[in-house]
Amino acid sequence: MANTILVGAQWGDEGKGKIIDVLTEQADVVVRYAGGNNAGHTVWVGQTRYVLHLVPSGILRRSKLCVIGNGVVIDPVGLMEEIQGLRELGVKVDRNLRISETAHVVLPYHRELDVAREQRQRHNRIGTTKRGIGPAYADKAARVGLRMVDLIQPERFAEKLKLRIRENNEVLKAWGARPLSYPKVLKAYQEAGAFLAPFVTNTVALLHQALQKGQNILFEGAQGTFLDIDHGTYPFVTSSNTTAGGACTGTGVPPNRIDRVVGVMKAYTTRVGEGPLPTEDHALGDLLHSMGREYGATTGRPRRCGWFDAVAVRQAVQINGVDTLAVTNLDGLDTLSTIKVCLAYRAGQQRYDHLPADAAELAACEPVYAEFPGWCTSTSQARRWRELPVKARAYLKALEDLVGAPIGIVSVGPAREQTIFR
Ligand code: GDP
Ligand code: IMO
Ligand code: MG
Repeated sequence: MANTILVGAQWGDEGKGKIIDVLTEQADVVVRYAGGNNAGHTVWVGQTRYVLHLVPSGILRRSKLCVIGNGVVIDPVGLMEEIQGLRELGVKVDRNLRISETAHVVLPYHRELDVAREQRQRHNRIGTTKRGIGPAYADKAARVGLRMVDLIQPERFAEKLKLRIRENNEVLKAWGARPLSYPKVLKAYQEAGAFLAPFVTNTVALLHQALQKGQNILFEGAQGTFLDIDHGTYPFVTSSNTTAGGACTGTGVPPNRIDRVVGVMKAYTTRVGEGPLPTEDHALGDLLHSMGREYGATTGRPRRCGWFDAVAVRQAVQINGVDTLAVTNLDGLDTLSTIKVCLAYRAGQQRYDHLPADAAELAACEPVYAEFPGWCTSTSQARRWRELPVKARAYLKALEDLVGAPIGIVSVGPAREQTIFR
């Protein structure tokens, strides 16, 4: 396998975790480059379900090096608990997990500010995961963040934390939220820092050593293209560059070492949180929820569901430079007699073949649909392209024509073996 960036081509939860796990078989190194524990990547191995938040999904395959890159924001207590949870499930992490020393740390005031801001903007809520992601990236950009290199040096951390808590408590008090106790936060974070210290290293140098040895690196995207801080449906986005460009800045691996980009998309659309979703369809959502599907892996919230949006994914193919698409959850459409696909948007007399920049304008758009006949049979047993129903293949071929990239992988269930390589 070549050096591969894997990105979500929609609004997150496309099934990246499952596809990462499958592709890790051919990789040597798996690296997360953006986001934090707002992500929830589900991987099934046999009867066991793993939900990874910060640890790369490659960790479930032995002897693969897993790296949390500099572009990620790390909640140290959350990461410690995630590692402990994996150990309890028998997953070995000690020799193959490495954490960037320059990744920024998520602190309790980030979470408090995230929650308080959402409460204050009653009518403009983003519906965040309340993990403090936005405020942590804001501090990084404002150059007042603390990094892993600070966390693992107890005295330096204590000093810097004191100043930061003092300043943030002023804001919390002004917003009517409870101020934080410095000694309590210090204790919890020093414990987590001591636990994580053996994993912390210069991951840029580590990744370049891997490149020199000719090893294959898989870049694990989090969130999705339309949650990207620059390219998403702003302000209903997350606070990092989730798209393929973020893989270089978020790891220190340059663009000329990237060989291909895989875009992951569902055969339909989902979104969790607020913000425009042009193809949202409540009946489709009810159907998927009744099958026990489409509940958030991090917050448990029911995901909003809609038809496949070819306008959005076409744009995602361009922004990320997608070479190959992986389609997941094809089996979610198995029972439908008619399947809609959005070809363009319309608002009044205006027709759009791209997402308008203004979220309110996008929210006012109506989808222009094409209809496809459903296959009305289970696909979950298919293991080869030719075993898929003719109508399912026609649907997938139409999608690749509409979005401008070939489909190389089709997933028909959460399990590893429910994966078709075309
Ligand atoms: P991620 O955040 O992109 O990794 O996606 P999530 O794990 O949050 O959500 C994807 C969900 O779809 C998870 O519950 C997966 O187990 C599940 N999944 C992935 N691919 C398939 C598929 O082809 N069929 C079915 N039925 N479930 C799938
Ligand atoms: P994975 O990696 C789906 C959404 C939140 C909210 C917005 C901002 O599992 O695909 P944040 O907490 O980041 O400030 O929230 O982004 N969001 C996700 N939606 N999948 C994710 O990650 C998400 N991470 C954040 O629901 O709408
Ligand atoms: Mg998810």
